[in-house]
Amino acid sequence: MNERTRGLIERLASEHRLTEAEYAELIGHPEAAPALAERAVAVRRAIYGDAVYTRGLIEISNICKNDCLYCGIRRSNRDVKRYRLTPEDILACAEEGYGLGFRTFVMQGGEDAHFTDDVLCGIVAAVKARFPDCAVTLSMGERSRDSYQRLFDAGADRYLLRHETADAAHYARLHPKEMSYDNRMRCLMDLREIGYQVGCGFMVGSPFQTPGTLAKDLKFIEAFRPEMCGIGPFIPHHATPFKDAPAGTLEQTLMLLSIIRLIHPSVLLPATTALGTIHPRGRELGILAGANVVMPNLSPTGVRKQYELYDNKICTGDESAQCRQCLDRRMRGIGCRLVVDRGDYKAL
Ligand code: 5AD
Ligand code: FES
Repeated sequence: MNERTRGLIERLASEHRLTEAEYAELIGHPEAAPALAERAVAVRRAIYGDAVYTRGLIEISNICKNDCLYCGIRRSNRDVKRYRLTPEDILACAEEGYGLGFRTFVMQGGEDAHFTDDVLCGIVAAVKARFPDCAVTLSMGERSRDSYQRLFDAGADRYLLRHETADAAHYARLHPKEMSYDNRMRCLMDLREIGYQVGCGFMVGSPFQTPGTLAKDLKFIEAFRPEMCGIGPFIPHHATPFKDAPAGTLEQTLMLLSIIRLIHPSVLLPATTALGTIHPRGRELGILAGANVVMPNLSPTGVRKQYELYDNKICTGDESAQCRQCLDRRMRGIGCRLVVDRGDYKAL
């Protein structure tokens, strides 16, 4: 690594920011990754110790009105068997998860018109009433401000909505023309103003991504300061227009996790299932690059294979209890521990 790159790392670690051009430059130096990871893990340990937070992911519907070019459950994919969980199914997943030590439930799904505000508010309120010591996170896509407000009033604590890319032209190449970068940003701003803990994020190695678009993502994270940030490698799905595009790499994902930890020291940063899919120890390596959250699947085993955003997704044949134990073991193996805790954001 040259002196200049070393200097960028020092400055990022001390000032938590670089210029857009400097981010793009740093991304062009993969040999900087080990030094970035070392700094990022020191920051994570100083704030969170050896704790890794866990969230139980309940994939409530794979029905989606959108047609994002990268996604396996896009509307145009006629080969997917569509499903939606009932409120009873969802409560049963949460019940099982509670017994396994989960204190955050993430309800994620496609943009399924069945989940009107009334329906979704009913589910949020029921989960909060049954598990008052748990946080409820929603990841249900773009909705109106009024809808986000009603869900917040019903008890939702957090909302995940990846921005996907902070470059409007890049956004347009990943999405159909009915979707817009401006509306995605409007949603994120509304969620923040309403009072949610908000998560943004992007795929690493998505088609047409460049060091320049990634630098914009990092500038966006610097400015927006999300409580959570979900990043994982793009992985092609065989029934999408991007089926022949190369997957994002382990190395670049790890490097970006470290950079994000240094930009925003207390951010809740998951080592994602996609990262665990491209490498057998991807999630452990993610934690060792600065991540501090894992999100195992609590969905009923019968539907897991149908929530296939990308090919070869892991854990689709496992029981919730197996995933919990598996991750427990994996985290202990790297000197960390999964905690039974809501795992709220720590404002510094
Ligand atoms: N590879 C990796 N991640 C994907 N997502 C959707 N499709 C893919 C894919 N092919 C991510 C998107 C979305 C989140 C729910 O899953 O970033 O926001
Ligand atoms: Fe699901 Fe390892 S986390 S089997």
